Amino acid sequence: MCSIIGYYGKGIAAPILVKGLKRMEYRGYDSVGVATESNNQIELKKGIGKVNEVNSKIHLDTLPGKIGIGHTRWATHGKVTDFNAHPHSSNSGKIAIVHNGIIENFEELKKQLEADGYDFKSETDSEVIANLLQKHYEKTGDVKETILQTVSEIKGHYAFVAMFENGQLAAARFHEPLIVGIGQDDFFLSSDVLGFIEFTDDAIYLENGTFVILEKNKFQILDFNGEHAKYGITKVSKEFGDAYKGDYAHFTLKEIYEQPETILKAGEKSEEAVEQTVDYMRHSKNIYVTGSGTSYNSALIAKQILSKYAKVRIEPIIASELQFAPDSIEENSIIIAISQSGESADVLEAVKIGKQANCKIIAIVNLLTSSLAREADVVIGMNCGPEIGVAATKSFTAQLVILYKIVQKLSNNKITINFEKFAESIVETLENTTKIQQTAGKLKDVSDVYILGRGINHPIAIEAALKLKELTYIHAEGIAGGELKHGPLALMDTNVFVIIFNPNDSTYSDTLTSAREIKARGAKIIGVSDIESDVYDYWIKIPKINQVLYPISEIIPVQLLSYYAALEKDTDPDYPRNLAKSVTVK
Ligand code: F6R
Repeated sequence: MCSIIGYYGKGIAAPILVKGLKRMEYRGYDSVGVATESNNQIELKKGIGKVNEVNSKIHLDTLPGKIGIGHTRWATHGKVTDFNAHPHSSNSGKIAIVHNGIIENFEELKKQLEADGYDFKSETDSEVIANLLQKHYEKTGDVKETILQTVSEIKGHYAFVAMFENGQLAAARFHEPLIVGIGQDDFFLSSDVLGFIEFTDDAIYLENGTFVILEKNKFQILDFNGEHAKYGITKVSKEFGDAYKGDYAHFTLKEIYEQPETILKAGEKSEEAVEQTVDYMRHSKNIYVTGSGTSYNSALIAKQILSKYAKVRIEPIIASELQFAPDSIEENSIIIAISQSGESADVLEAVKIGKQANCKIIAIVNLLTSSLAREADVVIGMNCGPEIGVAATKSFTAQLVILYKIVQKLSNNKITINFEKFAESIVETLENTTKIQQTAGKLKDVSDVYILGRGINHPIAIEAALKLKELTYIHAEGIAGGELKHGPLALMDTNVFVIIFNPNDSTYSDTLTSAREIKARGAKIIGVSDIESDVYDYWIKIPKINQVLYPISEIIPVQLLSYYAALEKDTDPDYPRNLAKSVTVK
């Protein structure tokens, strides 16, 4: 949710940290701060806003010194204020920390520290870490002992980096990501390899329940018992560092336009993993598919295509719900966990529950070095490259392609898909956006949009509603066509817009009837279909293709519609308010 970063080396820390934070801004972007150490003194600057805005106002990158820490925040405890921004320093000012995650027992710890005479300047849970570290450091004078005592007291999910006035840097990880970058003459600590990929591609993914202490030219990695912990140095794919907008105005637009290529890459080099998955699926009584947000919507589509084309039944489960019904998982089943980032806390929790029930875990994931990929028995790569825009676009269609590949195999190739030809049809949609842009202009002052689809088009309506909400802040709701008369029809009047997913499949004529019923109540209709109709006020044409692929060809124009409507409404499509790309807290 937040991003944390640390630098220890021969370069000037602050500009390196600011660059790294900029690249990790997708993790949280309501405030930013940097602290550095120089001549045994800690200096700190922080403020509200995105990295570039704050940096141009208060010049974070001019802080002196070769050791430093930094943070971009996604608020959990306390409003978005300068005081609540990180880094936080301890009362003595001799220790500063940045933290990602949640300290569940912070109130209790805060009370104890206040009783010991410590003051708190922020409303955050994170500030207790700084003061606990100070308390233990004053007693022990030893960084290792200080970290051990601190982690034994804090409860929750966290990764933090602590900088001591004497220039030592330490960082601990418990259920939040933390990676050590090993450079030529320097060390990096970061929530994501993007924080340092420009400088080194040698990385250590710290195991859960371990910490690292950095000193001149050396580092030690220990577990929470103080014993040396095992680690390995991994070569990180540089591709994930290539997160540039190029000629596009926004990452989101670039990522939408990358889809003709990314659908061809999805699942590439994972052929064996797909085979293995199919084999597990053939031999398992129960198959659960889990994910959050867009990735969960893929699970809904998986249910439809698997039952229709491969006669395989699966149960989609919202990842965050599983913890409240762990008994719904039968022992020795299969869990397919879908996640772009591989770091969503809810998905990782669902996997943990699955492992306790002795399930095989199959991950469909974009980041092959992520926690999910490391937890899984089988990993299928989305291969869609870095997705920076907070709203999932190309990762969604990559997930669907992988699901199609699984269905193809499971059905013994009963469905045949020519992905190359399909990619060409997507190019066609992407090259003809005038209608989509004009329609987006009509949504500018609309407060409610309903999105209707039947059968396989229903989960796409849900996903389309999610895109519209995130990017435009317009209230949007996906509805199963047949449910219209069971309630939502009451909402239809001249103030609403309804998007109708109505491709030429078995749902076509029923959905056309729904469109007429809605139109009769005065609502405006945007028809997404390969067949024109006079019922649509605005027709967004999709190509005539293999029916099984309608979900992908339907969602792409709505991704564009949401993007252009966001521009009309002057919202930031890459960084919607209150959201973060990687939701690493529960
Ligand atoms: C929606 C969106 C989110 C993510 C969700 C899961 O556009 O981006 O709903 O889909 O947070 O993220 P991953 O797939 O990284 O687990």
